[in-house]
Amino acid sequence: MREISLALPGRDRSYRILIDPGLRLRLPGLLDALRIRGRVFLVTDTRVGELYGEQSVSALKDAGYAPALLTVPRGERAKTWAVAQRLAKELLAQGADRSSPLIALGGGVVGDLTGFVASIFMRGLPFIQVPTTLLAMVDAAIGGKTAINLPEGKNLLGTFHQPRLVAIDPQFLQTLPAPQRRNGMAEVIKHGFIRAPDLLARLEKGTNRIFKDESELTAIIHRAAAIKAEVVAADEREGGLRRILNFGHTLGHGLEQASKFRLPHGEAVAWGMLAALDLSERLSGLPPQEAARGRQLIRSFGLAGPLTALDPRAVLSALALDKKRQADRVVFVLLQRLGEPVIRDDVPKSLIEQAVSETFGLPLI
Ligand SMILES: NC(=O)c1ccc[n+]([C@@H]2O[C@H](COP(=O)([O-])OP(=O)(O)OC[C@H]3O[C@@H](n4cnc5c(N)ncnc54)[C@H](O)[C@@H]3O)[C@@H](O)[C@H]2O)c1
Repeated sequence: MREISLALPGRDRSYRILIDPGLRLRLPGLLDALRIRGRVFLVTDTRVGELYGEQSVSALKDAGYAPALLTVPRGERAKTWAVAQRLAKELLAQGADRSSPLIALGGGVVGDLTGFVASIFMRGLPFIQVPTTLLAMVDAAIGGKTAINLPEGKNLLGTFHQPRLVAIDPQFLQTLPAPQRRNGMAEVIKHGFIRAPDLLARLEKGTNRIFKDESELTAIIHRAAAIKAEVVAADEREGGLRRILNFGHTLGHGLEQASKFRLPHGEAVAWGMLAALDLSERLSGLPPQEAARGRQLIRSFGLAGPLTALDPRAVLSALALDKKRQADRVVFVLLQRLGEPVIRDDVPKSLIEQAVSETFGLPLI
């Protein structure tokens, strides 16, 4: 079993991230080690529930737990007040008290929503992340950010609430559809760009076989999750270092918003990373051959496919609404070398416009 320790200041706030094929079936033993017994609440979405709900419930029952399975809709529409409130009411109806553990069994949506409810229900419940998408395994389940959406925008209501444990079973990815695998792969590549050239080298070798080779996949998830954990441990609340996780996300968010969220997140981030590589070459001294290597890697995973007609002005105006903006400047994460990020808030508007028109192929007329 592979293990990462995420050390955070304060009592009972540090936790382990465990990665092992088949780990989902050993969840009861992991709960027992945390001294969690009796009633537990599994939260999942309709799709993950259909695939893994029964199996998870019976493994817990067989070990003497009394699990309740709560199911939410799939996709972003589950990250709402209405669903959060419904979950809270179901928890009450099913006998939850202030010490009841919530287990998020699903992708980033289920993790964000469950963490949000866990952080506010009776002023806070313990929760455990059992991520089932690649994106959640290497990113969303680690670091304690929780959120729901408002009609005005994504993730506008949220809290910091660290899980007690993150239990990653790479076998969940066997049923994950290819577009969702690509979504997660964009974040894995991003982690390589900002912190781990060794991960990039590993990804370059295995483009075609990663998902067929369980031990390679496990090693990659371990490395990528460790980078997220390391960044979170150094900067839990995104005061400094954690901002490097936004590599590719500045213009990526612009694309997502301009597409009204029809463009998948991984695609948007992939395009955002391509733009960040171009800007890094021009502004922060990234050697051209390293930028080219980065572009090649992104494309080798089938990311950054054709962009359907988007309004370039909408991409630019979305940047002005980006909540990660500082004062009036748009903050970019650029690279000096692969693995060496730098935060820049002085990217000239003309270069941002050039990225939209040339890198994205969306000419500003
Ligand atoms: N908290 C954070 O730090 C953080 C970081 C990044 C992203 N996020 C959030 O994560 C969310 C996106 O997460 P996601 O990409 O995991 O999406 P998701 O949770 O919507 O899952 C994608 C789809 O895959 C299905 N699915 C999940 N696991 C499966 C499996 N093993 N087999 C088959 N189907 C499966 C789900 O039912 C869903 O339809 C966004 O809301 C984003 O804001 C949070």
